[in-house]
Amino acid sequence: MIVFEQAQPLSNYLSQQVGVNFVPTMGNLHQGHLKLVEEAKSLPGCVVVSIFVNPLQFGPKEDFSNYPRTVEADLALLKSAGADVVFIPSITEIYPDLSLEKTAELTVALPPIANELCGKNRPGHFQGVATVVKRLFELVFVNSQGSQVAFFGRKDFQQLFLIRSMVKQLQLPIDIRSVNTCREPDGLAMSSRNGYLSKIERNEAPYLYQTLKHIQAKILEGSTDFSQLEMEASQSLNARGWHTDYISIRDPKRLMPAKTDSIDFVVLGAAKLGATRLIDNIEFSK
Ligand code: PAF
Repeated sequence: MIVFEQAQPLSNYLSQQVGVNFVPTMGNLHQGHLKLVEEAKSLPGCVVVSIFVNPLQFGPKEDFSNYPRTVEADLALLKSAGADVVFIPSITEIYPDLSLEKTAELTVALPPIANELCGKNRPGHFQGVATVVKRLFELVFVNSQGSQVAFFGRKDFQQLFLIRSMVKQLQLPIDIRSVNTCREPDGLAMSSRNGYLSKIERNEAPYLYQTLKHIQAKILEGSTDFSQLEMEASQSLNARGWHTDYISIRDPKRLMPAKTDSIDFVVLGAAKLGATRLIDNIEFSK
């Protein structure tokens, strides 16, 4: 496994490979990330993982400076998972100039859905994600030969949706593959933020997924009053001490609110437990 901190030697190296399978991460890796690497390894080509905590996707009151940085442990996990290349750029490697005008030049126009759901509570978050993903794509794929594939988890459903829409809009020749959410045995979706939970909060945390599963069961039983289901779910979480941001029943293809005659659904939820904001979703068809 080769580690690069600079983009130029990385792209020189990748110009000698046929096919690049890219897994962007912010580090603090868990089983969910390793699943992405496993999927990346199942295709021919070189598996590249990036570790970069992107300042642009954190709000002023969010956890950018405290975000866990565990590079040594991450490298050990990636080595045993069989990654070929790890890219750990500095902030200036990604954003040579972090001034407002310069980052504005890098940004991509996103559809209005970027300001709904998680985007409503986290203004600028998806703009920051799209900016860094576009930049990483440029640096990783610039000289690559053969197939260009990038992997994202379905837990971040809205992120995946927006990245797909960016790739389509910019007509990038990159195949975006999604990987199912990895869960703990009690159903909690794996996330770097689970490490922030106290013991009591950790015991409570699977209730978010249970709530989404309850909505799924109700819809499969024939319930079509989606607003009522969303409201009851939020109330039930709040009654247990959560601060629900949203519970939303949507059509997975367009991410618009589901209709009474919808067949495919994604139910998305975001809620704070203590100081930790958790997100999850469940997809199903009637
Ligand atoms: O999902 C993540 O870990 C991040 O949002 C990503 C895609 C690596 C961009 O910083």
